[in-house]
Amino acid sequence: MKTIGFIGGGKMGEAIFSGLIRTGACSAGDIAVSCRTNEKCGVLEAKYPGVRTYNTSGEEGVAAITKDSDVLVIAVHPGEGNAIMEQMEKYLDPARHLVVSIMAGVTTDYMETFIKKTPLVRVMPNTPLSVGEGVTGICGGKNASPEQVEEVVSMFSNLGLAVVLPEKNIEALTGVSGCGPAFCAQFLCGLADAGVALGLTRDIAIRIAAQTLAGTGKMVLEGNVHPEVLKDGVCSPGGSTIAGCIYLEQNAVRGAAAGAVQAAVNRVKAVAEEAK
Ligand SMILES: NC(=O)c1ccc[n+]([C@@H]2O[C@H](COP(=O)([O-])OP(=O)(O)OC[C@H]3O[C@@H](n4cnc5c(N)ncnc54)[C@H](OP(=O)(O)O)[C@@H]3O)[C@@H](O)[C@H]2O)c1
Repeated sequence: MKTIGFIGGGKMGEAIFSGLIRTGACSAGDIAVSCRTNEKCGVLEAKYPGVRTYNTSGEEGVAAITKDSDVLVIAVHPGEGNAIMEQMEKYLDPARHLVVSIMAGVTTDYMETFIKKTPLVRVMPNTPLSVGEGVTGICGGKNASPEQVEEVVSMFSNLGLAVVLPEKNIEALTGVSGCGPAFCAQFLCGLADAGVALGLTRDIAIRIAAQTLAGTGKMVLEGNVHPEVLKDGVCSPGGSTIAGCIYLEQNAVRGAAAGAVQAAVNRVKAVAEEAK
């Protein structure tokens, strides 16, 4: 089994490695994680017995986790990734290592100015991956073979849906599924608020709204039902649901969703530029 080293054990890094352990895709002994403080290393070691930790606040730690790992997942923020990639490059062996980056907005072209020969795969996960219902967009850099891209697909398939896309589509995926959980949560809050206003307890209102979103998604994915068909199927003539749908359209719900994705993509581009 290969060792997977995570540079950065924050929300995403931890969600990925803990998911791989939980699903049995890896054992704790196959995972190495780096943090920038010894305290954080200690917390992760206590929480995940068997996982090895490194302090990568300096080059020594980067060298150590690179030597310990076959696959290296860069899970720090875009602005923090440059120093890591610069240091890591000195210890990478292109015949052994595979680098995977989850940094939003950071292109393979840009990363390959640091990681020159070692195969590199860019992925864009989302937070529902922490409960095995994630979406991960994947694209290979110029030195990654189709088999290496497939290896990353297989790793992230343990945590939900993993799709290979041309890199030019990764931004769109970032807006829809990377940022989408927040947009869905906002809509969910709106449904739940209405339920509370109509007399439901907050707990019940949130749970039934969440299950409604989850169930609707499942019908689209597993029942292979187009969402427009699903909507029409719930709207009976002169009924209550069509009245609600018209209200949503009068309030431009689809335009608002599309605008949210576009705003998010604009921001992803700006953050990636700032990080250079
Ligand atoms: N959150 C999302 O929904 C999402 C979705 C897709 C992609 N991403 C991408 O995932 C990456 C991480 O995001 P996140 O949400 O997980 O953020 P986060 O929770 O802030 O995690 C980033 C982690 O990197 C650590 N770090 C920084 N410099 C380090 C170094 N030199 N060595 C080791 N660790 C270091 C930070 O340590 P400290 O704890 O000491 O600050 C922190 O734990 C970002 O590039 C982001 O664009 C996030």
